[in-house]
Amino acid sequence: MMRIDIISVVPDLLKSPFEASIMKRAIEKGHVEVRFHNLRDYSNNKYKQVDDYQYGGGAGMVLMPEPIDKCLSKLKSQRVYEEVIYLTPDGQTFDQKMANGLSLKKNLIFLCGHYKGIDQRIREMHITKEISIGDYVLSGGEIAAIVLSDALIRLIPGVLNDETSALTDSFQDNLLAPPIYTRPSEYKGHKVPDVLLSGHKKKIEEWREDQSLKLTKEKRPDLL
Ligand code: 6GU
Repeated sequence: MMRIDIISVVPDLLKSPFEASIMKRAIEKGHVEVRFHNLRDYSNNKYKQVDDYQYGGGAGMVLMPEPIDKCLSKLKSQRVYEEVIYLTPDGQTFDQKMANGLSLKKNLIFLCGHYKGIDQRIREMHITKEISIGDYVLSGGEIAAIVLSDALIRLIPGVLNDETSALTDSFQDNLLAPPIYTRPSEYKGHKVPDVLLSGHKKKIEEWREDQSLKLTKEKRPDLL
């Protein structure tokens, strides 16, 4: 059983993706537990304030250290977390290899940044990994936390119906997935490639490998 604790100033932004489809089923089947924590619940301030101006000046607010430290310390006193991950555009770019590694962990914390980000001292005190989902800026780490959660949860054994289907995903072998077809074998004059109807397992496998390689050369030569 995996457990993911997600800390955010806008936990409402996080919830619905976990209430549908594969992530919902994984939670219902007991493969993963996902908990949301509202940083404002850890504010000392009577206005529940969790952000403040930056020292040295400059536009944008910073998440103050105390509420984050209190929330992380409480969680860490309850169980051992293998990683405390801060979602930030200046982190390491997320990819399938990182997803594979993280999918093997038991307890993870995702801390979502907001505004300009978090006080540097929290990064030094608590954070074990910093992850970005790509070279563009989002308003907060919440959507990135959802992306990571989805990528990890679908890799937990038993979550997908066909256990082999995660193994044939694009990127698992650094190649894009081959084209796929279902019935009918001809649609508005467009035919399914003959080899897929042949029943010849070895030829089908060869065709798929050729297609993967060809597509990767055309669309993502950087992967090769
Ligand atoms: Cl993890 N956070 C934010 N705010 N923006 C991002 C990101 C994360 N990854 C890419 N852009």
